[in-house]
Amino acid sequence: MSERSMASEKAQTNETATLTDNQTGESLTLPVLHPTIGPRVIDIRRLYAEMGMFTYDPGFTSTASCESDITFIDGEEGVLLHRGYSIEDLAEKSDFLEVCYLLLYDKLPNKQQKVDFENTITLHTMLHEQMTSFFRGFRRDAHPMAIMVGVVGAMSAFYHDSTDINDPYQRMVASHRLIAKMPTISAMAYKYSIGQPFVYPRNDLSYAENFLHMMFSVPCEEYKVSPTLAKAMDRIFILHADHEQNASTSTVRLAGSSGANPFACIAAGIASLWGPAHGGANEAVLTMLQEIGSKERIPEFIKRAKDKDDPFRLMGFGHRVYKNYDPRASVLRQSAHDVLDELGKRDEPLLELAMELERIALEDEYFTDKKLFPNVDFYSGIILQAMGFPTSMFTVLFALARTVGWIAQWREMIEDPVQKIGRPRQLYTGEPKRPYVPIEERS
Ligand code: SDX
Repeated sequence: MSERSMASEKAQTNETATLTDNQTGESLTLPVLHPTIGPRVIDIRRLYAEMGMFTYDPGFTSTASCESDITFIDGEEGVLLHRGYSIEDLAEKSDFLEVCYLLLYDKLPNKQQKVDFENTITLHTMLHEQMTSFFRGFRRDAHPMAIMVGVVGAMSAFYHDSTDINDPYQRMVASHRLIAKMPTISAMAYKYSIGQPFVYPRNDLSYAENFLHMMFSVPCEEYKVSPTLAKAMDRIFILHADHEQNASTSTVRLAGSSGANPFACIAAGIASLWGPAHGGANEAVLTMLQEIGSKERIPEFIKRAKDKDDPFRLMGFGHRVYKNYDPRASVLRQSAHDVLDELGKRDEPLLELAMELERIALEDEYFTDKKLFPNVDFYSGIILQAMGFPTSMFTVLFALARTVGWIAQWREMIEDPVQKIGRPRQLYTGEPKRPYVPIEERS
């Protein structure tokens, strides 16, 4: 195979797997690729050319769409690594901008690199002033995710000097601009929805402090950022930063594979994340808890979640990959207690209700047999609501944090010599060719 079409050297092995078509007796021997950790991979790229067959894998449950060095997940063991560092270590010992550096540059920064990166991001936090007009085109009651999709996509109309995907420098500047401006745009979407003036970023505040300041300060009085809330916010950003080839990251990669500019790709990722089965689940969890209302009604909703004829699902439970506890949920569960204690909301009824719902669900074999454990979205909404965020902003915060993961994966895809435009095939079960019927002859 040509250099361009091989997976990386470190994945190459002499191992093979053979596929036999029992219909024709034909066999095809395919290369097996080795990961650093995780399942081995069968390279099936020659399958159609040599056997005239496709594989069928709706939802990509058994399909590796790319080779990546960024994030590793072990669903059975509940492991999440970013460039080899565990999410537990990063959540406890790192900060969000350091994790951004790690995801972008494959190593933890030294002191000077960290200072320089923080300065770079800080100096990109302002938004082109003319972009503020976009917000006024939305109804005040527009969902903030609708605003995010529109305004982030529109960045490609303003930052022309960082849209050339073939220029490594422009790819880097686009990455920095997106990481830096997402908090500013997110806070503006919120301020617009409540009719308050936009708050400009401040260069003397940390990333999380700046975001809280842009969200909750008003021109009429001094706003003091709580260090505890800033730390909790920073930790929540870390926990949502990247997550392998999830639906929105795959959307960004697929959009990027056509050569679309980075701002358009990230807008596509925001749109995909919005779905309640994905990043929209944190908002759906709060809505569900408010609908359950009391511990007495939990059995009624557990029953509905198990009923095949009822579309209701227990939001914040289950995961395509984690068939054990989502390690991010464990960290968030502890953070929920810390933040609510700090805010003097220890007896927050929603947290009590969530804990009781979790206890009952995990004693029910429907959930344990199907390995449906709480995921990252189950506790995040409770913390965010306690911090003062409206439910409609929960997925915006997820998108804010996930932007670094999306852009790191997008850059990896652009720089991967093997990648080409993504274009899956299908199992066609429609009508075979048939003649056109004139309208006079139709029944
Ligand atoms: C995120 O991919 C990622 O990494 C995503 C994410 C990230 O960081 O990017 O981790 C973020 O999206 C977390 C997931 C948030 N979504 C929710 O909390 C919504 C509720 N969860 C479900 O919609 C569901 O669990 C999914 C979408 C998360 C996973 O769906 P799968 O892997 O396609 O599993 P499935 O739908 O095939 O379910 C398997 C079985 C089914 O029953 P059977 O048909 O086998 O009898 O489990 C049932 C499902 O009906 N099931 C649930 C359930 N989730 C799955 N039943 C009740 N409540 C649920 N929550």
